[in-house]
Amino acid sequence: MADKLIIFDTTLRDGEQSPGASMTRDEKLRIARQLERLRVDVIEAGFAASSNGDFEAVQAIANAVKDSTVCSLSRANDRDISRAAEALKGANSARIHTFIATSPLHMEKKLRMTPDEVFEQAKLAVRFARNLVGDVEFSPEDGYRSDMDFLCRVLEAVISEGATTINVPDTVGYAVPELYGNFIKTLRERIPNSDKAIWSVHCHNDLGMAVANSLAGVKIGGARQVECTINGLGERAGNCSLEEVVMAVKTRRDYFGLDIGIDTQHILAASRMVSQTTGFVVQPNKAVVGANAFAHASGIHQDGVLKARDTYEIMRAEDVGWSANKIVLGKLSGRNAFKQRLQELGVSLDSESEINTAFARFKELADRKSEIFDEDILALVSDESVTSEKEQFGFVSLSQHSETGERPHATIVFTVNGREVRGESDGNGPVDASLKAIETHVKSGAEMVLYSVNAISGSTESQGEVTVRLQNSGRVVNGVGADPDIVVASAKAYLHALNKLQSKADRVAAQG
Ligand code: KIV
Ligand code: ZN
Repeated sequence: MADKLIIFDTTLRDGEQSPGASMTRDEKLRIARQLERLRVDVIEAGFAASSNGDFEAVQAIANAVKDSTVCSLSRANDRDISRAAEALKGANSARIHTFIATSPLHMEKKLRMTPDEVFEQAKLAVRFARNLVGDVEFSPEDGYRSDMDFLCRVLEAVISEGATTINVPDTVGYAVPELYGNFIKTLRERIPNSDKAIWSVHCHNDLGMAVANSLAGVKIGGARQVECTINGLGERAGNCSLEEVVMAVKTRRDYFGLDIGIDTQHILAASRMVSQTTGFVVQPNKAVVGANAFAHASGIHQDGVLKARDTYEIMRAEDVGWSANKIVLGKLSGRNAFKQRLQELGVSLDSESEINTAFARFKELADRKSEIFDEDILALVSDESVTSEKEQFGFVSLSQHSETGERPHATIVFTVNGREVRGESDGNGPVDASLKAIETHVKSGAEMVLYSVNAISGSTESQGEVTVRLQNSGRVVNGVGADPDIVVASAKAYLHALNKLQSKADRVAAQG
């Protein structure tokens, strides 16, 4: 029997550390459910000690998810580890992931600790965590830039203390595949008790090699866990991308010889959900989940694919969730068809009332748009007005006037804690006028650092999906909104971002 490769998803922890990608508790819960549907082995749900919000998110995910192990990150100290254990109490299967930096640079400049102090703290942390849960992962942060002898000493000690998984991060994305693979191999060969733990890889993408490095860690180094995120979400250039690593190991089973438990048909829905929730748009030529990933544009390719698909296709689009017929529903579709399509897309709404709200929104959309695509449905259900989440600001209606040679004017009605308010403003364009109209009431003082519009399903009939990134007092948030009218989509995205700015910002960073 082939070995199994464990897929450890850290979208909700390392992915969320990306500036602007922070998520609310309910958003995280929705994504965690999708990860469970995807049959991810371990879901790193957050960093419980970093903020009350993250504690609650980890707790909610631990209580809701039954089929995946739920994990919380914690620094290597008793307080963090206790918070993680407390948040994970409701989990069927819980893991504490504790870490401390081991590279000379991080120990000296960041931690201001001697190697001996780091060694002791790592041991004590794992010992403490093992008294609380049976499944403990240890990471030497910046492990790849650590001194090999020192790293062997630390890892041998934490395995003796009961660490069940040893994860070797390339925290700054400095590795190259062959060297990283050999680094893991050397650690496993030199550490006498290395066979008592599962070895894991965790690669950042600064040089665009996170997936290649992770796969080398598996193939050359013998790692049996890969840490990754949906769409490769993560700080700077991101983390190793789950969809790429999974499809590489599945498609090239002849080479890797490993089993993987992922239900790949849910990959696309997970990708869409993460992109729509965080506002991080997926590039069209992104492997597996990009809009062009399975589009054969050239005549020669199209001809080949029509004659025999495997002439140019190494994976089947359907296997990762691209449906063959993308036009799914229309104006005459009923509630049951809508509900079934949600199920096929892997979306489960929490209550009948959420389904009713989503269905009402679907009908409204179908009145304005003759063909409803999967993308439209996913955008619709990720809209916070469909879920039971209570937000400070909610969109109600918008009217705007623009004419060549005249300054556009907008009037917007929106709710502030349930009470309707009306704002009016001129602007350079209709979008500018609408957002200024919101600001006449909100006066957020936020600076807009990004505004982007994307046609969800590629034509002018399509819904526009707008991402707005706001910055205020050092905090960066993304808001997303979708509507066939891009001015309305912009207003929704802006309100979404304002809601995120209002939520408390008391989190501490996992690194740094
Ligand atoms: O990249 C890193 O070093 C991390 C650790 C906290 C595991 O994310
Ligand atoms: Zn990381």
